[in-house]
Amino acid sequence: MIEGAAKIIARSRFLIAFTGAGISAESGIPTFRGKNGLWKRYRPEELATPEAFARNPKLVWEFYRWRMRIISKAKPNKAHLALAELERMGVLKAVITQNVDDLNREAGNKNIIELHGNIFRVKCIRCDYRENLKESGRLEKFLEDEDFPKCPKCGSLLRPDVVWFGEALPEGALSKAFNLARKSDVCLVIGTSGQVFPAAYIPHIVKDNGGYVIEINPSQSGITPIADIFIRGKAGEVMDELLKKVEELRG
Ligand code: APR
Ligand code: ZN
Repeated sequence: MIEGAAKIIARSRFLIAFTGAGISAESGIPTFRGKNGLWKRYRPEELATPEAFARNPKLVWEFYRWRMRIISKAKPNKAHLALAELERMGVLKAVITQNVDDLNREAGNKNIIELHGNIFRVKCIRCDYRENLKESGRLEKFLEDEDFPKCPKCGSLLRPDVVWFGEALPEGALSKAFNLARKSDVCLVIGTSGQVFPAAYIPHIVKDNGGYVIEINPSQSGITPIADIFIRGKAGEVMDELLKKVEELRG
């Protein structure tokens, strides 16, 4: 399987990667629907909807600060690093991720589309104020604080700059991702259950355009029925081997 996938990737014209929470599992970040997944332990309607935030912003911020602490300690694993290397080799054209963990950027990828936002960014619920807490250097203090984060411009509440259930995806990101999928001849799908739309349309667009879909996941997902190659395994382990094969083939 890995040999076959490496051949398709090595001769690909426009490879894209579509990733989900599973790619970051080996970095110690819980997935959503897997065993011990976040949505197995917590109710998304109480923590990840605009209504939940309006109802109880304190609870929602406790949850996001807890997740930010876990993610801020996490390091890119071999799967993230392999995607960065494939980009450096000129093979991988873009990473389209559902993850908010910023690990693709940490690994060194440049062309990243974050369909569901970024947990280290905040935005005002009233004005156009936005801030990347890593870039502004306020992350550590922000994680220590327990009070409500206020907008320095208009004093209203700040919220995490992520996409909650029932919310539209960032327009620019979604159309850019669909355009890339339309141009792509190979889509590498890593660690997603493929149940959340419109993000999960990405591999289908590549397939409908006659492209290949290669999936890496320890379990079958909503994408598996359209996968030309399904590699049952963990992202870090499989991607490490896959990269070596692609490097061999490209000499
Ligand atoms: N390597 C690869 N895949 C893995 C690994 C691993 N080490 N561990 C688990 N997986 C797989 C699981 O089998 C599962 O199919 O990762 C997938 C994770 O699925 P979800 O938890 O549903 O995460 P995701 O598909 O990213 O969720 C989509 O839903 O909750 C919302 O906005 C959130 O972006 C998220 C979206
Ligand atoms: Zn404001």
